[in-house]
Amino acid sequence: MSRTPPEQCEDSRIRPVETSHLADLIRIGEETNLSPWSAQSYLEEMKNPAAIMLRMVNDDNANIGFVVGRVVIAGDTGPRTDAEIYNIAVARNEQRRGCGQTLFEAFRNRCILKQVANIWLEVRESNSPAIKFYEKNGFEKVQSRNHFYNNPREHAILMRLRLLTPH
Ligand SMILES: CC(C)(COP(=O)(O)OP(=O)(O)OC[C@H]1O[C@@H](n2cnc3c(N)ncnc32)[C@H](O)[C@@H]1OP(=O)(O)O)[C@@H](O)C(=O)NCCC(=O)NCCS
Repeated sequence: MSRTPPEQCEDSRIRPVETSHLADLIRIGEETNLSPWSAQSYLEEMKNPAAIMLRMVNDDNANIGFVVGRVVIAGDTGPRTDAEIYNIAVARNEQRRGCGQTLFEAFRNRCILKQVANIWLEVRESNSPAIKFYEKNGFEKVQSRNHFYNNPREHAILMRLRLLTPH
C-alpha cells in the first residue's frame, strides 16, 4: 500500500523561502520582537542544505509567517539526527488563527521524513505565548540558560520535542 508523504498532505499555503521573501521575513521578525536576524544571516542559512525554511501566505499570496530551522547531527552516545528551530513568527494581525500551528506542523513533517529524533529550541523565559504554543505542541522544558539573550538581557528556556523514543 502506498502512503502519501506527510509534506504532500499539508496546507497549500506553505511555501519554501527564497531570496525575494527575506524583506518580509525581517519585517515580520521586527514586528513580533524576534531576536534580529539580518538578510545576510538568512542568506547564509539558505545556502545550508540542512536548513528548513518555510513561509506561509494568505489568500492574497502575501507572506504572513515563517519558520526557520535546521537538521543537525547530535548525540553523546553515537550520532543522532536532531533539529533546531531558530525562528518562528506570525504577523501580529494574523496571530491566533492557526497559522503558527500550520507552520510548525510543516516543519515537523520535514523532520519526521528525515527521521529526526528531537526538535530543540530556545525561548525567552518571559515569552509565555510562545512557551504555551510550544507546550501545546508537545515540547517540554529541559533547562534554563542564564543570560542567554541581550537587549533585553534575559534567561532562555531550552525546550525539546521528542519525535522518536530513545532506545
Ligand atoms: C508563537 C507564535 C508563532 C504562534 O503563532 P499563532 O499563529 O498565533 O499560533 P496558533 O494560532 O497556531 O496557536 C496554536 C496554539 O498555540 C497556543 N497559543 C498560541 N498563541 C498563544 C497565546 N498568545 N497565548 C496562549 N496560548 C497561545 C494555543 O494553544 C493555540 O491554540 P488555540 O488558539 O486553539 O488555543 C506567535 O505568537 C508569534 O509569532 N509570536 C511572536 C514571535 C515569537 O515569539 N516566536 C517564538 C520565538 S522563540
